[in-house]
Amino acid sequence: MMNEGLRVEWLVAGLLVGSIVAALVARRAVTAFWTLRAMALTPTLSRRLSRWVKPRSYSDEEFFRADGAAEPWVERRQQGLARLASFLRARYPRCADWGDALRTSFSDLRFTDANRVPFPFARFMRDHFNQCAVVTASDGPRLQDLDGHWTLDVGGSYGVNVAGFARYKEWMARGLERVQDLGPVLGPLHPVVAENTTLLKSVSGLDEVSFHMSGTEAVMAAVRMARFNTRRKLIVCFAGAYHGWWDGVQPGLGSERSIDDCLTLKDLHEASLEAIRRRAGEIAGVLVNPVQSFHPNAPPPSDAILLTSGVRRTEDPSARYAEWLRRLRAVCDECDVPLIFDEVYTGFRLAPGGAQEYFGVAADMVVYGKTVAGGMPIGVVCGKKALMRRFDAERPMRIAYVVGTFSAHPVVMGAMNEFLRWVVEPSTAQLYTEMNERCAQWVQATNRRLLDAALPVRVVHLGTVWTVLFSEPGRYNWLLQYYLRAEGVTLSWVGTGRCLSSMDFTDKDYEALATKLVAAARAMKADAWWLSADEHPKREKNMRNRLVQDAFLSLVRVPRPLQTFYTEVMRRKKDDHHASHSNLTNQLFHIISSSVFLGCYALAFWDLTTAMWAGLARVQHAQQDPDPGRLLAHSRRPPPVSDRLDRRGHAIDRGRRRG
Ligand SMILES: Cc1ncc(COP(=O)(O)O)c(C=O)c1O
Repeated sequence: MMNEGLRVEWLVAGLLVGSIVAALVARRAVTAFWTLRAMALTPTLSRRLSRWVKPRSYSDEEFFRADGAAEPWVERRQQGLARLASFLRARYPRCADWGDALRTSFSDLRFTDANRVPFPFARFMRDHFNQCAVVTASDGPRLQDLDGHWTLDVGGSYGVNVAGFARYKEWMARGLERVQDLGPVLGPLHPVVAENTTLLKSVSGLDEVSFHMSGTEAVMAAVRMARFNTRRKLIVCFAGAYHGWWDGVQPGLGSERSIDDCLTLKDLHEASLEAIRRRAGEIAGVLVNPVQSFHPNAPPPSDAILLTSGVRRTEDPSARYAEWLRRLRAVCDECDVPLIFDEVYTGFRLAPGGAQEYFGVAADMVVYGKTVAGGMPIGVVCGKKALMRRFDAERPMRIAYVVGTFSAHPVVMGAMNEFLRWVVEPSTAQLYTEMNERCAQWVQATNRRLLDAALPVRVVHLGTVWTVLFSEPGRYNWLLQYYLRAEGVTLSWVGTGRCLSSMDFTDKDYEALATKLVAAARAMKADAWWLSADEHPKREKNMRNRLVQDAFLSLVRVPRPLQTFYTEVMRRKKDDHHASHSNLTNQLFHIISSSVFLGCYALAFWDLTTAMWAGLARVQHAQQDPDPGRLLAHSRRPPPVSDRLDRRGHAIDRGRRRG
């Protein structure tokens, strides 16, 4: 009886433990399921893939045929590119020399140079073009370069230039004047810091402020403070969002380190909200870069990944994104998870109150940078009191060591004060509205002009952030940045991916910009970089095949002799075809030569040995250089074209090269 009672007790206890374990396992499984549904896999997969992708450069021949275009188009492209290269060389000689002298010692320049165009095209472009903008003065939205030309700037100093260069020059000068008696004293604070803190609190609607030297540093600080104060480890960010170069928030390409404390979820996706709910106990903060509204779930558009037109799918779903941010806010409130806006890009650009004002959603922490110090280097974190503590009142040895030598540097604080006092003036809001409206009107007018000119280019914008889209399939869209440079437009190294206008763009400047964009696109079309479906009937199929082939060759190492052999066979095949159709005489002999071949096929049924000898003799004959004595050769005369570029971009005469 006793034993039986004991057995029942054990059974009950076992069942209890079993059901607790089963409940825990089930809970974990459900959480894992939602996490997997919500996770953006592209960042992790692309980082893993990057270990396998090998360098691949198109040969001079392949470069012009990446879409399988026919020979006449290739010739046009070669001539067009040679012309463009020599034009830019002649127009910017001093900039080019300066770049050449510095490139090997200045690794930042080498990095931007290496990432201007998709990598299979990079070697050729480096050999023929030397893109380096070296500038000495600004006037309105124009920059003067070392060669003395004034160009229209749409790089926007990576987002710093919102208010127009003239204002920043003034703020920097007045700010310096204000603190010059103090000089570079750090540690003790200049009184202007108090005013800046008050202004930043009022703009952000938050309780406390901390100063840093760059956007990246401020993001690091915000993340560390969120972790410290929530005692949780995990940071949630969204697919494609850039938060500076710190690898702690860079789970995808660009980072060598795999991280387990940053979870990348899908933007605008229901499952992401559920994953946040289920993992709330682990999440220190949800980090959002609101410029993603422009290209949700995709990295910032740049020309370096513009392998086809479809790669760039920028849109402006502001209303949808605002709704998404509101829902994110509600989930964060419900789960007591801090919502952090990284407004390094959007702060003071979309509106005086940044994305919080533009989308009508308040964050618990906001990170600013770029323009907020009136042209000086800066990073700022504003946050709720409970999130900004860097010491633990209950545990004196627990501290978050977030400090920096240059925090609240007097010169930076002086210029920041000028900017902040300007931004909170009631009249400034009107300037923002006008700036955004001017850009919106320009986008509409420019798209009409591009459509009327039957050019496959469109522009889209979010406030004054704009990008170029391509409405027809093409593998050379990234070349537009070079044609724009020839028209006198300065872009940042991401090319046509992300461009910026500022308050000092007048209607006349916008008009000039539209004219330059249309002219550049026209020149590019005239040089045959975009071919219509009529001009190149199999363009999509060819491009797809080429991309698959490229992907294969980037992943699989084909022995060099085999590659060379294949390329040579294909080149000869093309040359042969080209030569045999180049004029009437050659066409005639081509027919005779092909007839001999056909004769050989027929002969093979009766007399294989003779057919074989005749065929071999004819093959041998056709492989020889053109010679008037050989009547059956495919090509009696060299073709009358010049279709190659030497390393400096000059055309080489094919006949001369062969001779
Ligand atoms: C949203 C965002 N966060 C952080 C950064 C990094 O700022 P910084 O380049 O000043 O380090 C950037 C820079 O472009 C950014 O756009």
